[in-house]
Amino acid sequence: MANGKEREGPPSGRVTVRTLRRMKGKGERITMLTCYDATFARILDGAGADVLLVGDSLGMVIQGHESTLPVTVDEVIYHCRAVVRGTKRAQVVGDLPFMSYQAADDDGVRNAGRLLQEGGVQAVKLEGGERVCPLVRRLVDSGIPVMGHLGLTPQSINAFGGYRIQGRGDDAADRILRDALALQDAGAYSIVLEGVPWPLAKRVTDAIEVPTIGIGAGVHCDGQVLVIYDLLGMDPGFKPTFVKAYDDLHSRIGDAVRSYRSDVREARFPTADHSFE
Ligand code: KIV
Repeated sequence: MANGKEREGPPSGRVTVRTLRRMKGKGERITMLTCYDATFARILDGAGADVLLVGDSLGMVIQGHESTLPVTVDEVIYHCRAVVRGTKRAQVVGDLPFMSYQAADDDGVRNAGRLLQEGGVQAVKLEGGERVCPLVRRLVDSGIPVMGHLGLTPQSINAFGGYRIQGRGDDAADRILRDALALQDAGAYSIVLEGVPWPLAKRVTDAIEVPTIGIGAGVHCDGQVLVIYDLLGMDPGFKPTFVKAYDDLHSRIGDAVRSYRSDVREARFPTADHSFE
């Protein structure tokens, strides 16, 4: 506060927990995307994404697993380091993977600390409601900003019996609202709402002061998040209702590689322009 005025953010100019809270206050929607490497991070950061999540979805879209469950803390850290190197402005959030915090809160504190210290992220995300609140409180007390995650939480996919919309019916909806209020109370600075009916997402968004970020949760959340590969249309076989593909990179990348292959086979590449004397 050199000139007596409160500074808007850290010297790095990154989006912070305060920026996001202020955006909710002003009704400005938050743009969040998943990101797993430095090249994409540079593009998404340059295009104005506010938050980049190094999600455990990397287990599916990068590693080819059928769920997020096999992802380890070391793997998340590896991708966090790459994404942080590629960003200047976006807040980078590291996902705490399955079993990195469920067995004991001490595990959660250590692993969240590793994501900040070794991964270089500015915040962590974890799944769960009232059950994880004691851990959220400890993390926040330790100086680690926490993003909550409620609804269709993929780490509980076996318990749900599949990827099913959550929060249908009064009891289930009330439980998610209670979880959101408890997370806010524990100090979470934002909450992802995944796979819930839009009226419930609106109810939660209206009831809490911290921003909600929706995925499959309708338009009334304070922001939206998509898996970047879904937004780009990388997998033509994956078209759930909640995804809008803004491109068809699966076809376009395939076309580019087919052109390259035919140029190589017909000796049209490299030309003199691509060669050295
Ligand atoms: O792992 C992930 O990518 C996520 C988002 C889809 C919210 O948790």
